[in-house]
Amino acid sequence: MFKKLKNKNKSETNQNNDLDIHNIPEHVAIIMDGNGRWAKKRRMPRIKGHYEGMQTIKKITREASNIGIKYLTLYAFSTENWSRPESEVNYIMNLPVNFIKTFLPELIEKNVKVETIGFYEGLPQSTIEAIDHAKAKTQHNTGLTLVFAINYGGRAEILQGVKAICKELQSNNQSSDIIDEELFNRYLMTHKYPDPELLIRTSGEQRISNFLIWQASYSEFIFNEKLWPDFDENELKECLKIYQSRQRRFGGLSEE
Ligand code: FPP
Repeated sequence: MFKKLKNKNKSETNQNNDLDIHNIPEHVAIIMDGNGRWAKKRRMPRIKGHYEGMQTIKKITREASNIGIKYLTLYAFSTENWSRPESEVNYIMNLPVNFIKTFLPELIEKNVKVETIGFYEGLPQSTIEAIDHAKAKTQHNTGLTLVFAINYGGRAEILQGVKAICKELQSNNQSSDIIDEELFNRYLMTHKYPDPELLIRTSGEQRISNFLIWQASYSEFIFNEKLWPDFDENELKECLKIYQSRQRRFGGLSEE
């Protein structure tokens, strides 16, 4: 049986950027890679790359919100990133504080809601306080949901979910037969969001690096050559155009 695919009408584009406004992914996830190389190329300390990376987050959040993307999940810090030098980790952990101090008014103005996935309790207190403040101030916003994956790892997320399911089954004396994808999804940190239709990784590296490994099963992957601090609104639009030119088949067949 043929799976019916949404017909793309190329004339249905918005004013100036040739995007099909009827085929904007609801959820875009980004692995923001290349900050260190960006700084190295300029003989600057790696932290300068992370600082510029934070500025790129502002640009991309603005653009995603303008385009009408509903969820933007950004891989800000993985469970494996703790192995970096302490000074770099401390610097990255302070960036949300800086980001929120400088960008919260615009997030509010743009109706953006801030959320996180990841092992939140493992973060420094000052980082938690800044993010909690942003979450509280934006909790009723209804536009773009900006999700920071921070102290996040896909395998750890899955293991946590599996343990919680086992515990619940045991205490309710239920059979594991009731476990299906829908139930499993409810135990993931992303349970409130649809799976990302599009996953972008910058800097030319072609790996998933433990990011949304369950949720990205059918995502379209785009490996963009730009280092994250050089990624901009036009690059995002180019990625969306590539996404729109792809046929998503979900294991089925496309119509001739
Ligand atoms: C990967 O580049 C980037 C990171 C591990 C950190 C990303 C963090 C930010 C952009 C800022 C986070 C800010 C907020 C507001 C949450 P890399 O250092 O691995 O680059 P390289 O591969 O070139 O060394």
